[in-house]
Amino acid sequence: MTTNRGIQRIIRGMSASDGAGVKVRRSLGQSQDARLDPFLMLDEFSSDDPDDYLAGFPSHPHRGFETVTYMLDGHMRHEDHLGNRGDLTPGAVQWMTAARGIIHSEMPQQERGRMRGFQLWINLPAAEKMKPASYRDIPPADIPAVALSGGGRVKVIAGQLELDGKSTPGAIQGPTTDPLYFDVELGAGETFRHPVKSGYNAFLYVYEGSVNVIAGDAPREVAAQNAGILSDGDAVEVKAGANGARFILLAARPLREPVVQYGPFVMNTRQEIEQAIADYQSGNFGKAETAAAG
Ligand code: CO
Repeated sequence: MTTNRGIQRIIRGMSASDGAGVKVRRSLGQSQDARLDPFLMLDEFSSDDPDDYLAGFPSHPHRGFETVTYMLDGHMRHEDHLGNRGDLTPGAVQWMTAARGIIHSEMPQQERGRMRGFQLWINLPAAEKMKPASYRDIPPADIPAVALSGGGRVKVIAGQLELDGKSTPGAIQGPTTDPLYFDVELGAGETFRHPVKSGYNAFLYVYEGSVNVIAGDAPREVAAQNAGILSDGDAVEVKAGANGARFILLAARPLREPVVQYGPFVMNTRQEIEQAIADYQSGNFGKAETAAAG
């Protein structure tokens, strides 16, 4: 017997500004108790007004976690201090494991039109926070899109889609936190049910329309621009509202380790944060691999 996960808590997306003044809507990570281990932060950026995004995200560091950028509309270019360069176009994903350090910029490559997408921060276990940084650009064609028999479709960014006895591996497999990251689109009244490992933390974020999360006696509605934190169980079942729904579904194995965050540095102790700041200020940030090789 399987148990559907219900809604434990709703976190309303709040307006925030990041980078050099990019308007975002922050749900997870808007405060320390709005995290969901190992998910640290979720920002949705969505605007047709260039003033909301043109300033972009000039050079800035990260240490201790992974950043996942998923573009829905628009074009951004990424460059980092390790010499990586990549274009993010609609439907593309950038999966960056900052680990011991990356300094990068993410700048819009358009002066008008819509810019829309997500940035998600996923924590790394203590044992992996100081590993060398790594980075992957995943073009839209490499992200499996699966049609649902009852209507709608799922893009499998990370983890594995299990549907009608068929398994579809996502573009990303294997981080220790074993993340599942789906982008689901449903027409009015269409449903989606999927297993989510018991004990894993899970949430969904609705970015168009609304969904009803079906569990127990009464379905709970999650409206657009809200994150619905799911209770434990081994499946999630949603039914789209009258205007259909687009949402992302995330789940991962919790780390249960102390989290000490100072802006873009997320470590386990204050001392490690002080070290991150010192490394960044002294220009040695993320260069340990060069030193080790020399
Ligand atoms: Co960044």
